[in-house]
Amino acid sequence: MKQTLKDQIESRRTFAIISHPDAGKTTLTEKLLLFGGAIREAGTVKGRKNAKHAVSDWMDIEKQRGISVTSSVLEFLYNDFHVNILDTPGHEDFSEDTYRTLTAADSAAMLIDAAKGVEAQTKKLFKVCKLRGIPIFTFINKLDRQGRDPFDLMEELENLLGIRSYPMGWPIGMGQSFKAVYDRLEKRLELYNPNNPKDIDIIQLTGPDDPKLDEAIKDEQLVAQFREELELLDVAGDEYDKERIDKGDLTPIFFGSAISSFGVQTFLEHFLKLSPPPTTRESSIGPIDPMERESFSGFIFKVQANMNAKHRDRVAFLRITSGTFSRGMSVKHVRTNKPLKLSQPTQFLAQNRSIVDEAYAGDIIGLFDTGAFRIGDTLVEGDSFEFSEMPHFSPEHFAAITVKEALKHKSYEKGLQQLTEEGAIQLFRTYNKYVEQQIVGVVGVLQFEVLEHRLKGEYNVDIQMERQPFSFARWIDGDETVLKTFKEKQRNLVTDKENRIVALFENEFQMRTAKDKYPELQFYENSFYQ
Ligand code: G4P
Repeated sequence: MKQTLKDQIESRRTFAIISHPDAGKTTLTEKLLLFGGAIREAGTVKGRKNAKHAVSDWMDIEKQRGISVTSSVLEFLYNDFHVNILDTPGHEDFSEDTYRTLTAADSAAMLIDAAKGVEAQTKKLFKVCKLRGIPIFTFINKLDRQGRDPFDLMEELENLLGIRSYPMGWPIGMGQSFKAVYDRLEKRLELYNPNNPKDIDIIQLTGPDDPKLDEAIKDEQLVAQFREELELLDVAGDEYDKERIDKGDLTPIFFGSAISSFGVQTFLEHFLKLSPPPTTRESSIGPIDPMERESFSGFIFKVQANMNAKHRDRVAFLRITSGTFSRGMSVKHVRTNKPLKLSQPTQFLAQNRSIVDEAYAGDIIGLFDTGAFRIGDTLVEGDSFEFSEMPHFSPEHFAAITVKEALKHKSYEKGLQQLTEEGAIQLFRTYNKYVEQQIVGVVGVLQFEVLEHRLKGEYNVDIQMERQPFSFARWIDGDETVLKTFKEKQRNLVTDKENRIVALFENEFQMRTAKDKYPELQFYENSFYQ
């Protein structure tokens, strides 16, 4: 393989930030972009409150609410690294699309509010990362405010997420008394200056016992506590183990305050060194290793309509998995077995889209789409193969859906198909009912509004939705005879677009009862049957 291609790939880091709303993801992203010089001033990533609308607020509905619904891709250069951040919607109502975006990431940064710990959305996103076995790096944010004891937070990571952790840094004080973070690997002290947080003094120590630490902190009690805690970590904590980090079994923890840029650069530098370059992916002909396969390949992980209302365009996001992409190149669209010329690809720094001439494994490009692409499609140059199917995840909200005017049925079906292909909604059909009904499932309730809004705006169709009381969908598989009985007896069954059988449940109790009744069957949370 050519050295230049190897170097290009090795310098790529493609990751997603996972967090619960309000943990500080927008703030952290802004600071990361600032370090990379990609934006001139913070506050331009997302329009908060009165600020002007942010770069990732593409859709009308996002503008009306001042939130970001769609995932965007932000890229910047830092030292010799080419960094791609996959932005996942951070508000309460996130969509399945958020999950899918994670399939394009090689690692994840998990952001946690020091006062709140592991929250619901973080937990869901973590599960998806775990399913993929990607390394996860934790940033504990808002140390400038009183938060929970760091040992408590470590315990919570283990209890709620099942992951052990290795603190790369350790805070000295918190909130009013926040003084510094000690970098365990570099044996460095980073001093926090509340009056001028951007002014960070770094002191090189010989270790935690270095008297320079006492001089710098000037608080005997805090220093004593810090030394005690660090000793406890050294004795009772997990060892630093790069192999376990790579497998996603151990998460390195960093502490900081994103709003004051404190700890962000340290996090970024360690993260870039420790996180993997573009990784091997499974396909129909076995693993595709970007370091081995020189020719181009990639997959579509997201299709987004109307990114720019003026142009009414549709963009398919492609994650390059091997080789070099160059503008105008011809590739094969494997599902349809047709050649395709990639003539107008775009790279994103939100609205300032620019035409890209060349891109490499690890990069994300946007392809203008006239309806050819579906989520999960593979594009290749040379030998043909397909990347593994993209999973669907259990929706949490359901509604029976009908079109108001029967005459518009065609546009309605077209719109539904489009939105299903984009992954904005999942469409099910009732199973074994006299009158077949269409059931829409979404991960976040806001998607219902998006659905209504888009069907009206793009297809001029009014719909009627009747919310259903379900909270869980489980893909069912197992012994055929038992499955047959299950299909006959179980209520609230639907089929997905691949005709797989899916059971809907209102609550955990209902689900447990069914599992107890049919121990021979498997109830999967995703269509991957994993
Ligand atoms: P999100 O994208 O994860 O939803 O979070 P976002 O960055 O919007 O941050 C949520 C709130 O937390 C914001 O306050 C933000 O200023 C604050 N925040 C982020 N990082 C830190 C931190 O390190 N320390 C402290 N103390 N606060 C932090 P807000 O009042 O909701 O918005 P704003 O008026 O500040 O824009």
